Amino acid sequence: MFVRLLTLIFLCWCFVSSESEVITCSKIVAFPNRADNISITDFGAVGDGVTLNTKAFTEAIYNIQHLPREGGTLLYVPPGVYLTQPFNLTSHLTLYLAAGAVIKATQDSSNWPLIAPLPSYGRGRELPGGRYMSFIHGDGLHDVVITGENGTIDGHGDVWWKMWRQRTLQFTRPNLVEFVNSSDIIISNVIFKNSPFWNIHPVYCSNVVVRFVSILAPRDSPNTDGIDPDSSSNVCIEDSYISTGDDLVAVKSGWDEYGIAYGRPSSDITVRRVSGSSPFAGIAIGSETSGGVENVVAEHINLYNMGIGLHIKTNSGRGGYIRNVTMSHVYIEEARRGIKISGDVGDHPDDRFDPNALPIVKGVTIKNVWGVKVLQAGLIQGVKNSPFTEVCLYDINLHDGVTGPRTPPWKCSDVFGFANLVNPSPCSELITHQPGSCAA
Ligand SMILES: *[C@@H]1O[C@H](CO)[C@@H](O)[C@H](O)[C@H]1NC(C)=O
Ligand SMILES: *[C@@H]1O[C@H](CO)[C@@H](O)[C@H](O)[C@H]1NC(C)=O
Ligand SMILES: *[C@@H]1O[C@H](CO)[C@@H](O)[C@H](O)[C@H]1NC(C)=O
Ligand SMILES: *[C@@H]1O[C@H](CO)[C@@H](O)[C@H](O)[C@H]1NC(C)=O
Ligand SMILES: *[C@@H]1O[C@H](CO)[C@@H](O)[C@H](O)[C@H]1NC(C)=O
Repeated sequence: MFVRLLTLIFLCWCFVSSESEVITCSKIVAFPNRADNISITDFGAVGDGVTLNTKAFTEAIYNIQHLPREGGTLLYVPPGVYLTQPFNLTSHLTLYLAAGAVIKATQDSSNWPLIAPLPSYGRGRELPGGRYMSFIHGDGLHDVVITGENGTIDGHGDVWWKMWRQRTLQFTRPNLVEFVNSSDIIISNVIFKNSPFWNIHPVYCSNVVVRFVSILAPRDSPNTDGIDPDSSSNVCIEDSYISTGDDLVAVKSGWDEYGIAYGRPSSDITVRRVSGSSPFAGIAIGSETSGGVENVVAEHINLYNMGIGLHIKTNSGRGGYIRNVTMSHVYIEEARRGIKISGDVGDHPDDRFDPNALPIVKGVTIKNVWGVKVLQAGLIQGVKNSPFTEVCLYDINLHDGVTGPRTPPWKCSDVFGFANLVNPSPCSELITHQPGSCAA
């Protein structure tokens, strides 16, 4: 009863504080109004769920690329189910899905095109060698919008999950949507469904906005991360619902020796008003952070039925850094663990990684977290010769809902920082140290 009352007060307070000043991503990229509007049906597309429309999409994009109109072009997808193989986007394009429009990946994965591995990963994330191109792919683009009236992009993922389970995959599975080396990207008012692998993957990008999206995949679908900003800057994610089989949002920046050599960080990443559910983490950083991750803000996050609420993860061999991260106003209902910051998570691309490439984790503030039915409060496990520093916890209440406000205590090692108003009380490493650079 007491917990319920406090939850109610907390929710009301969230509501009021977000009502008073609604901050949005809209300043990052201006929404372009296109001068020209062409329909995918002009290129012979048939939305009957049977006809293969690859030629229509490829020709429409070719047309837009080679007959550029002042102010760019809107490619309209009317209601219907448009089956297609993967295709590339082009610059100055708005891909517009009407209400009831579905762009659906073909079930035939046998002639899915392969592309080169990302240089910051050195190989495919799952398997050595190249990787299957994403269903909707953009490389070296500028000024692209994917939007509409909440139409659906459906990755037909079951075909790929089955190959993963049967261990018959030859290369790394495709993402649903990927932008590589692109800028000024907006993804809004679209439903993403059944991605073969990660859902939305901006890599080596800047100025990316994702808002008003729903991302849905079964809880047991393998590696279906929601949104993974990767070696990208100025990424803003807001007002979205994500329920998948892996981390809802995971900020990354390359893998071990390849990521260190490529040296491209993720910076200035904002995540706000995102809710959802997953057997893994709600807001994650890592574990691939070899190019560095800095200036991350995640706020007003509501998580239900989770593996871990907030998870910052790296490993020896990763190198890189994670610094200046603030996560606040987080509500967690049902989770195995509330908060985890760990230095021993994730595998290596090959045995050429340098075990002495130790990551630096410095300046992580987590505050205003309310959790109910959280089985274990927190685990902070630094790297032995590279302890985590300036880890600051304020105003965190995690309840197990069984014995009242008394979940098992925090566990910590190799960490320095400060904690105030944290319940259950955190480990002595955080209590006995002075605030230092943790602002009180
Ligand atoms: C684009 O044209 C289609 C007809 O082909 C029309 O139904 C639609 O409303 C137009 N969309 C916009 C955003 O102008
Ligand atoms: C799409 O673009 C990629 C990268 O720019 C290129 O390698 C590939 O050939 C293109 N694929 C198709 C199907 O157009
Ligand atoms: C990135 O894209 C730009 C075009 O926008 C191109 O000039 C540049 O070569 C690309 N860089 C890489 C590394 O592919
Ligand atoms: C689309 O979904 C968003 C929530 O993601 C909602 O706010 C918006 O009103 C919907 N738009 C339409 C046109 O249905
Ligand atoms: C930390 O990150 C915040 C939010 O991105 C930014 O406003 C601030 O300037 C950063 N601080 C430093 C010291 O870089």
